[in-house]
Amino acid sequence: MRFLAKTLYGLEGVLSKELGELGAADIKPLNRAVSFTGSLETLYRANYCLRTAMSVLKPVAVFNIGSPDDLYKSASAIPWGDFLDPDQTFSIVPVVHSPMFSHTGYPGLVVKDAVADWFRNRKGRRPSVNVGEPDIVINLHISNRLVTVSLDSSVVPLYKRGYRKEQGEAPLNEILAAGLVLLSGWDRKSPLTDPMCGSGTIPVEAALIASETPPGSFRNFFGFLKWKDFDEKLFERVKDECGRKILKPGLRIQASDISADAVIQTRANAESASVGDLIETRQCSFAEIRPEAPRGWLIMNPPYGQRLKPSDPDSLYTMIGTVLKHNFPGFTALVISSDKELIKQIGLKPSEKRTLFNGSLECTLLRYELYEGTRKKSAEKPAWDQ
Ligand SMILES: C[S@@+](CC[C@H](N)C(=O)[O-])C[C@H]1O[C@@H](n2cnc3c(N)ncnc32)[C@H](O)[C@@H]1O
Repeated sequence: MRFLAKTLYGLEGVLSKELGELGAADIKPLNRAVSFTGSLETLYRANYCLRTAMSVLKPVAVFNIGSPDDLYKSASAIPWGDFLDPDQTFSIVPVVHSPMFSHTGYPGLVVKDAVADWFRNRKGRRPSVNVGEPDIVINLHISNRLVTVSLDSSVVPLYKRGYRKEQGEAPLNEILAAGLVLLSGWDRKSPLTDPMCGSGTIPVEAALIASETPPGSFRNFFGFLKWKDFDEKLFERVKDECGRKILKPGLRIQASDISADAVIQTRANAESASVGDLIETRQCSFAEIRPEAPRGWLIMNPPYGQRLKPSDPDSLYTMIGTVLKHNFPGFTALVISSDKELIKQIGLKPSEKRTLFNGSLECTLLRYELYEGTRKKSAEKPAWDQ
């Protein structure tokens, strides 16, 4: 079976690597998505274990259309009875990039009619539409003439891990936070610090990675639970096998923030994710931090001009550059910010730069290899180039 895992822009490579480790085959990175093949078991593992996937779709029909009328005809030929029952509810999520349709909603209504008519003609009853809490979510993707109709096996996006108790003002998406940790090349043993931790998304995702805790283990809902082919025994086996791999690594991840509320939020989220013992929290300014080891990783997400308004953003970013340079020689530092101008105030030469998205917000990720004394070129390639 072929599937499509959707992700955030810039994380396609990390997601492809995750899928390879999961046992998926024929992995093809696309734009904001990765296509792969596998069994029902692979699909359950993908939903339960992937850290950088937003949702996993199962295409059920792919066809070309020459006119809007063709959409109804081809959608009516899909054997809808294989995927849902008349007493279930459904919703259609249209993603339309085609000059054939001026309103995105219209093709969704056409496919809704095709589903309803299919059941009315064969069973005399039809499933109802429920936009708020549907049993089955049908994803309709139209790119020019090419139509892909898929079932959404996740329904609730996978970044909604289920452990978050506290939100903070500008939290990173969990998928992006996990992606940063995976992109950093962190060896899962050396010290890792987030000195502007906010609600603690980076430290919590790092602790879940180091302890091999499946990110899906806090959730009790996945779209595939309502599918006609749902295999409960198989899903229980997948959960058992993944659960048995959870470790208690001997490491401490440092999480600090100038705000007392942020430290409380990080603690609450870490405890809720059962990784409280791996995360050391402290209230202090970044300027006060001295690393306890000569080497390590630092990942930080300073306030963005757009979303948070630090009293003097320029001097905050200049301070970040000075502290990184003087206090963290030997460290690999990753800084993510949506403000291209402010980030220049750091004043250090990044070894790598890439664009990522935090939801719809475009961000720049900078990587710094920090050295004491003379700069030597690192022999190691950054993880995102491997
Ligand atoms: C964009 S938020 C971080 C959000 C976080 N990544 C999350 O997912 O919740 C930036 C954080 O930097 C903190 N901060 C601002 N100035 C600081 C400083 N000088 N030292 C330490 N933390 C600071 C703020 O209190 C805020 O919590």
